[in-house]
Amino acid sequence: MNYSKKNMVLMVIKEVNPRDLKKIVYLEHQIFKEDAFSKDLMEKFIAKNFLFLKLEISKLKKHLIGFIIVIKDQKEMVNIVNLLINPKFQNRGYGSYLLQQTIEKIKQLKNINKIVLNVQISNLIAIKLYEKFNFKKNPIVCENYYQSGEGAYLMELDIYS
Ligand SMILES: CC(C)(COP(=O)(O)OP(=O)(O)OC[C@H]1O[C@@H](n2cnc3c(N)ncnc32)[C@H](O)[C@@H]1OP(=O)(O)O)[C@@H](O)C(=O)NCCC(=O)NCCS
Repeated sequence: MNYSKKNMVLMVIKEVNPRDLKKIVYLEHQIFKEDAFSKDLMEKFIAKNFLFLKLEISKLKKHLIGFIIVIKDQKEMVNIVNLLINPKFQNRGYGSYLLQQTIEKIKQLKNINKIVLNVQISNLIAIKLYEKFNFKKNPIVCENYYQSGEGAYLMELDIYS
């Protein structure tokens, strides 16, 4: 189901703060298991605070719907190092909403013309989501990219094309 205008009114995107850490680390480990980012690394992302955003719904304040982490990569490039929607809320359009809003925020940054990310080759849902937003998949697989041994695709979006 896609997000409707009615639901969009209720969705709030905010910067993550240290109080969110416990829930974020829990979700991260639940989903990514041995590939999960550590608590220490998450703390560093919060401290650096480039774009570490969470999605909440005003009616469900206790629930963290999802989060996204964007870091500055090389010059003129940012990297989406993580995007996660709580399994209870997946496939309802929240991932699309969070990604779309994040792309809009990135477009407002000066001198950034490309967004890159890596995705597990088996993660067809995420690949579909990124392709929906015109990310292009590099066909060359980065072998053994993850701790699990799985390979990754590099996906890129030229934001001014
Ligand atoms: C990938 C993820 C962020 C997508 O979030 P989501 O809120 O479920 O996604 P949406 O509901 O916005 O759906 C986005 C697109 O993904 C695809 N999709 C989502 N759920 C799907 C499902 N169960 N089956 C098939 N396709 C699905 C669809 O193409 C959908 O677009 P459409 O409905 O317009 O066709 C979410 O599944 C997730 O957190 N997965 C675990 C973490 C992860 O893999 N993150 C990506 C790391 S690179």
